[in-house]
Amino acid sequence: MIRMNNFKAEPAALREQELAAVKRVFDSGWFILGKEVETFEKSWADFCGRKFAVGVGNGMDAIEIGLRAMGIGPGDEVVTTPMTAIASVLAIVRAGATPVLADVDLASALLDPASVARCLTKKTKAVLLVHLYGQVREMEKWQKLDVALVEDCAQAHGARWNGKHAGSFGAFGAFSFYPTKNLGAKGDAGALVTDSDEIATSAKRIRNYGATDRYHHVDPGMNSRLDEMQAAILSARLPWLERFNARNRQIAARYVAEIKNPRIELLASPLAPENHVYYLFVVRCAERDRLMKFLKDREIESLIHFPVPAHQQECGRGIRCDPKGLTNAERHARECLSIPCHPQMSDDDVDLVVRALNQFSL
Ligand SMILES: Cc1ncc(COP(=O)(O)O)c(C=O)c1O
Repeated sequence: MIRMNNFKAEPAALREQELAAVKRVFDSGWFILGKEVETFEKSWADFCGRKFAVGVGNGMDAIEIGLRAMGIGPGDEVVTTPMTAIASVLAIVRAGATPVLADVDLASALLDPASVARCLTKKTKAVLLVHLYGQVREMEKWQKLDVALVEDCAQAHGARWNGKHAGSFGAFGAFSFYPTKNLGAKGDAGALVTDSDEIATSAKRIRNYGATDRYHHVDPGMNSRLDEMQAAILSARLPWLERFNARNRQIAARYVAEIKNPRIELLASPLAPENHVYYLFVVRCAERDRLMKFLKDREIESLIHFPVPAHQQECGRGIRCDPKGLTNAERHARECLSIPCHPQMSDDDVDLVVRALNQFSL
């Protein structure tokens, strides 16, 4: 079976480095908010080209904590996309703010600026851009907005636009290090990156019960701390990130060149290779469910990201949307399919996936 991920096939050297990191934490006898977290925060901030990184419990908390650290909460609106992990929208709700959903551009499945413009009101405090599937696109357009920009980078570790990293454009960038991400931990983990001293200081307080000093709490914070074990593992994996992203790009380049089937539509290619890290390689097909079964019968796994847009989720009822509707997001949700694209795939695996996709017919 060609799977969407294959951690067991990762290089033995990486595994050794991760195990050595875990041993280092065991030997230190210190498990929460210590040197490993500080070291990883520094390297991650440097990698992203930002002054600060704050390690937190997961990607959803990174968004919530970032918004709260900016003072965004009850009475404020945050515009975002319905075509994302539900966590992006829930984080806005958890911060006490009101999510508003704009439509996506069909070519990329990323937020459509014209639809976002229709959603802005006096109450809009931020636009949460989601760098879906690993794509960073047209950032100068977004930076021209009159409203604060914040970035959900959970799928875009290492993606760049004009040489600048995902996470370095908005007031903050929020990352998930869920195990399958391009930089993944061995459990839940996340971080936000920012140049703002104020946001970083507030985020550090909020992640730790709102504490300034031990047992002194200035606001009702959360328990959302990156732990030493995950931080040490992330430090071991970080030097591999660019290499793994490069392999994803090689596989994607083959898919773009070799998938030739009128029933299967590819998303727009990135303007430059650095703009995409292919956390997911996504195609669209009107007969998506049949295609999924066809691949499964040939021992090829595929997944749907995401089958139900946020406004059609049970928990998303009543969310205000672009008055013109979210028809592109709805169509994308009906037709999108993620096919295997990860650094451990061999060239033979890629051959098999291409052949199967090209053989698919009615
Ligand atoms: C776009 C996006 N945002 C947010 C999240 C939430 O991250 P986590 O699962 O670490 O809370 C995810 C994770 O799947 C994601 O893909």
